[in-house]
Amino acid sequence: KPVHILNGPNLNLLGLRQPEIYGHETLADVAARCAALAAELGHTTQFLQSNHEGQLVDWIHAARAEASAIIINPAAYTHTSVAILDALHTFEGPVIEVHISNVHKRESFRHHSYVSLRAEGVIAGCGTEGYLLALRRVASLLGAGA
Ligand code: DQA
Repeated sequence: KPVHILNGPNLNLLGLRQPEIYGHETLADVAARCAALAAELGHTTQFLQSNHEGQLVDWIHAARAEASAIIINPAAYTHTSVAILDALHTFEGPVIEVHISNVHKRESFRHHSYVSLRAEGVIAGCGTEGYLLALRRVASLLGAGA
């Protein structure tokens, strides 16, 4: 089963949006790098982005049957969404939370994450490389080829 990599609001504008914080790489670049690394690790990925909370909840429900693990950057919903947390509690595989920026170095409203209550691991402040680090962690949690 693929690793589902879910991305929340405004990440469709990655590369254009506050590049001093989030860098110049686009989300399509990140998706391609994830697919390449997953192949090396013996896995596949499904990479998705939505600006809508309910869509992310629906994708998490779909992942229950379809995904081996979830890597999620919930973006602003990290700090607000009990619905995404509750959805993640229905998923049985590993969940890794990723933030491109170091949320702990930013405004205090970014210091709290609902999603962290469910995540096995959290990666923040490693830029888009955080997605690749999360994939390596998922691969070691699942074992190659799982
Ligand atoms: C983010 C951090 C969030 O606080 C912010 O709302 C985002 C992106 C990150 O990847 O650093 O949209 O999740």
